[in-house]
Amino acid sequence: MPLRLLLVLFYACASVALCPPRCVCSDTLLTVRCASADLARVPSALPSEARTLVITGNVMRALDNGAFNGVRNITHLDLSNNGIMEIGSHSFSSLHSLRSLLLNNNPLTLIHPEAFSVPGCPLEELALHSSLYNYTSLTDLITALRWGKLTNLLLLDLSGNRLVLLPPGMFTTLPSLQHLNLSNNSLMAVYNGTFSGVEQLRKLDLSLNGFKTISIEGLRELERLKSVHLLLSENPFTCACDIQTFASWLNTSKVRVGDVDRLKCEFPEVVRGALLRVVNAQTLGCSGRLQREILELSLQTSYVFLGLVLGFVGMVFLLVVYLNRKGIKKWVTDIHEACRDVLEGYHYRYEIDSDPRLGQVSKSQQGQCRRMDTRLAQVSSNSRIVQIPADVAL
Ligand SMILES: *[C@@H]1O[C@H](CO)[C@@H](O)[C@H](O)[C@H]1NC(C)=O
Ligand SMILES: *[C@@H]1O[C@H](CO)[C@@H](O)[C@H](O)[C@H]1NC(C)=O
Ligand SMILES: *[C@@H]1O[C@H](CO)[C@@H](O)[C@H](O)[C@H]1NC(C)=O
Ligand SMILES: *[C@@H]1O[C@H](CO)[C@@H](O)[C@H](O)[C@H]1NC(C)=O
Ligand SMILES: *[C@@H]1O[C@H](CO)[C@@H](O)[C@H](O)[C@H]1NC(C)=O
Ligand SMILES: *[C@@H]1O[C@H](CO)[C@@H](O)[C@H](O)[C@H]1NC(C)=O
Repeated sequence: MPLRLLLVLFYACASVALCPPRCVCSDTLLTVRCASADLARVPSALPSEARTLVITGNVMRALDNGAFNGVRNITHLDLSNNGIMEIGSHSFSSLHSLRSLLLNNNPLTLIHPEAFSVPGCPLEELALHSSLYNYTSLTDLITALRWGKLTNLLLLDLSGNRLVLLPPGMFTTLPSLQHLNLSNNSLMAVYNGTFSGVEQLRKLDLSLNGFKTISIEGLRELERLKSVHLLLSENPFTCACDIQTFASWLNTSKVRVGDVDRLKCEFPEVVRGALLRVVNAQTLGCSGRLQREILELSLQTSYVFLGLVLGFVGMVFLLVVYLNRKGIKKWVTDIHEACRDVLEGYHYRYEIDSDPRLGQVSKSQQGQCRRMDTRLAQVSSNSRIVQIPADVAL
C-alpha cells in the first residue's frame, strides 16, 4: 500500500514537472508557452524534450545562470517582452541546437561579450526589435556579435532601436547574413564600410528612418550588395537638387529597391508626395535656381559690404567734423552773415522795385537762406531776371 501511494505521488510530481505551472504545453511537450504568466524567472522544471520555448510578457530583469540546462534540445527560444535588462555570459551556451533567439521589446542595458556564445554556432536568427536601451547597448551588442562567432546567422532584426549611427564594419563578423532589418530607426547615412562583410545580404530593410537622400558614398556601398532587395520607403526624402543622383540611381541600379514606387519627396512642401523616381532638374527647378541662389548670395554680400563702407565713411566724417569743430563754427557764422547780407540786398531792391510778387519770394526764401550762394545774391540784386546760373546747385 505505501509503495502504491509512493508511485502515485511520483507520477503526480512527474506530470507537474512535465509542464510547469502557469505554462501551456502542446505537441506532446515539444512546445512550451508561458505567456503573461507573471514569472520572475525561467521555470526550473521544463520538459526536457521541448523544442520550442516561448516565455513572453513576464517580469524578469536578468536570466539566471544555467536557466536552460534542463532543455538542451531547444531550437526556438522566444524571450520577448519580459523586461530583461541583462544578458550574462554564456546565457544560452547549453542550447546546442538553438537556431532562433527572440529578445524583442526588452530594455537591454547590459549584454555580456559572450552572451550569444553557443558551441557549434547554431544560431540562425537573432531578433532584437526595440531592445537596445541606448548606444552603450549597441556597442555591447557589436562586441557580443564578434565574440559569439555567429558565422551561421542568417537573420538579424535590429528594427525599432532609435539607432542613429552604425559603426562601419559592425556586421563583418556575420558572413552568412541574408536578412538585415534596420527599419524604424533614425539612420541618416550609409557610409563606406557600413555593410562590409555581408555581401550575401538578400534583404535589407531601411524603411522608416531619417534618410533625406543617399549620398554617392552610400550608393556605392549599397551597390556592393549585388543581390539585395532593398526597402527604403517612409524616409523624409528632401527633394533638393542634390537628390538627382539618388533619383537616377533608382532607375539605373542593379540593386532592386522593392518599394521604389513608394519613395516620395517629403520636403520641400511644393513637391511633397512626388515620386522620387521621376523627379528631375526641371521638376525640382534646379537649372535656373542655382544661378539665382548665387546671385542672391552675392547681392547679400555686396549689401553687407556697402553697409560697412557707409558706416566707416560716416565715422570718418564725424571724426573730421569733430576735429574741425572750430573751423566749422566759424564757417557757419560766415554763411549766416553772408545770408544776412543777401537778405539785406533783397530788401534794398524791393524797396526800389516795390514789386509785391518779389516780396513774397523773398519771404519764402528766408527759410532757404543757407542754400543761397553769394553769386546768386549778386545776380538777383543786380537785375530783375531771377535766372539761376547753370553751375549753381540749389
Ligand atoms: C535531444 O536530442 C538528441 C539528439 O537529437 C537526442 O539524442 C536526445 O534524446 C534528445 N533529448 C531529449 C530529452 O529529447
Ligand atoms: C546607457 O544606459 C546605462 C544604464 O542606464 C548607462 O549606464 C549608460 O551610461 C548609458 N549610456 C549612454 C551612452 O547613455
Ligand atoms: C522589419 O521589422 C518591422 C517591424 O519591426 C517589420 O514591420 C518589417 O516587416 C520587417 N521587415 C522585413 C523586411 O521583414
Ligand atoms: C518604431 O519603434 C518604436 C520603438 O522604438 C515603437 O514604439 C513604434 O511603434 C515603432 N513604429 C512602427 C511603425 O513600427
Ligand atoms: C572604402 O574603404 C575601403 C577600405 O576600407 C577603401 O579601400 C576604399 O577606397 C573606400 N572607398 C571609398 C569610395 O572611399
Ligand atoms: C526614371 O524612369 C522613369 C520612367 O520609367 C522616367 O519617367 C524618369 O524620368 C526617370 N528618372 C530619372 C531620374 O532618370
